[in-house]
Amino acid sequence: MDLMIAANWKMHKTIAETEAFLIEFKKFAGRFSGVEVLICPPYTALAAAHKLLDGSGIKLGAQNMFFADHGAYTGEISPVMLKDLGVEYVIIGHSERRRLFGEDEMLIRQKVEAALLYRLKPILCVGETESERERGFTDAVLKKQLYSALEGLRGKLSSDLVIAYEPVWAIGTGRAALPADAESAASLVCQVVQECLGTQVLQGLRVQYGGSVKADNIGEFTTLPSIHGALVGGASLEAAAFAGLIMAAREAAGH
Ligand code: PGA
Repeated sequence: MDLMIAANWKMHKTIAETEAFLIEFKKFAGRFSGVEVLICPPYTALAAAHKLLDGSGIKLGAQNMFFADHGAYTGEISPVMLKDLGVEYVIIGHSERRRLFGEDEMLIRQKVEAALLYRLKPILCVGETESERERGFTDAVLKKQLYSALEGLRGKLSSDLVIAYEPVWAIGTGRAALPADAESAASLVCQVVQECLGTQVLQGLRVQYGGSVKADNIGEFTTLPSIHGALVGGASLEAAAFAGLIMAAREAAGH
């Protein structure tokens, strides 16, 4: 299975900055074989990014969406609108959305269902906080997040599910998880996906690790048996450095 490395730019980059990044980044695209590369810019730069990525093999994703297709939801963006912009993937339930914008399990579940309905590929984010880990609740938290988002979806899902394991304490802190802990969480993700959605979906599932991924540690994660890629924040903002991170992952994988 191809590795999948996704850039989550969060609230960074204007249209002009997005264009400058992609023009430079595309020069490296010939060296990405064996890796599915995805860029998730802010909403305002999606149209410009779509234009520049067309035909490059690099995929386009959004960082969030609302679940309804239209209606009186001031400030929200619908799955239909994302499709309109050529978006293929959508990040759902990132810990910053859960923590800073009050997204709960029910809302995240509705968003996952809407993504599937509109044939957007969800990247569902799960992960424990530091205090949950310290109190020994990591597995229980992951199970709760996964079951509430996935249970009962059997039949609605194609094989294109991506789940990012992102321990909250590792995001943006420079303190990545230990590979053994990431593997244990990723293997729990696989187990729950099999229980909720069956073997066929499990076979197409890609589990990403996210949280302080850099060029010099990505190989420690992408070579783990249950991990098939990474969701990268801070280290995805500079074109040559992000291309270097992708090439480091390829090298570690022996491509
Ligand atoms: P980080 O963010 O790579 O800056 O830690 C990862 C994420 O939030 O997806």
